[in-house]
Amino acid sequence: MAVQISPSILSADFARLADEAAAVTPAADWLHVDVMDNHFVPNLTLGLPVVQSLLKHTSLPIDCHLMIEDPDQWAPGYAEAGARNVTIHAEAAKAPVRTLREIRHAGARAGLAVNPGTPVEPYEDLMGEIDMLLLMTVEPGFGGQHFLDLVMPKLQRARAMVNRHGGSVWLQVDGGVNDETIERCAAAGANVFVAGSAVYSADDPARAVQALRAQAEQATAHADWAK
Ligand code: DX5
Ligand code: ZN
Repeated sequence: MAVQISPSILSADFARLADEAAAVTPAADWLHVDVMDNHFVPNLTLGLPVVQSLLKHTSLPIDCHLMIEDPDQWAPGYAEAGARNVTIHAEAAKAPVRTLREIRHAGARAGLAVNPGTPVEPYEDLMGEIDMLLLMTVEPGFGGQHFLDLVMPKLQRARAMVNRHGGSVWLQVDGGVNDETIERCAAAGANVFVAGSAVYSADDPARAVQALRAQAEQATAHADWAK
């Protein structure tokens, strides 16, 4: 599968979300929307009404990352609203199989996220229930944090796990992904890259997306896992 870039609007100007989405539309594959509830993570961002509004103002598919305490209750609503991907956290879901199935039933891709300290192996049996596995490469909650290299061995194990199950599950990394870290993520097995501050702090966000994509594509071309 080709490299995909999902700019995170967490680092954008929240008063100008439609314009900020438009700024990356020519270059990006997705628009990553971080929903935070001040319970699962210490930060508070936006919820379903803002996602519904954004859907009317962008042609990019929306990649919803729910950092909320009760995804079983709320996740299907984001899929029903038209988000193309809805990712829930393994640490928060009480009935992940049911919730992932409800997301798919509503027509979206279903994602499962794990924090830096959460292993992926306990979720191997869910590989058939998900379209994407998200490995957090920072503790979730804030943009602009330093990339955690300690996640790299887990990323390699996750790639091996995904490939054992046919390789159709996308492997996303989120947190601290920038021009210094994206190549080692691609080399280790990621194929979907979230970038917030690396895109929105750039003078030209679309150009930043293009540059990140070029780096990831080059690293993927040399990666053993992709051969
Ligand atoms: C953090 C969010 C990320 C965030 C990444 O909890 O899930 O999507 O926007 O921001 P950067 O790319 O700046 O680390
Ligand atoms: Zn995110």
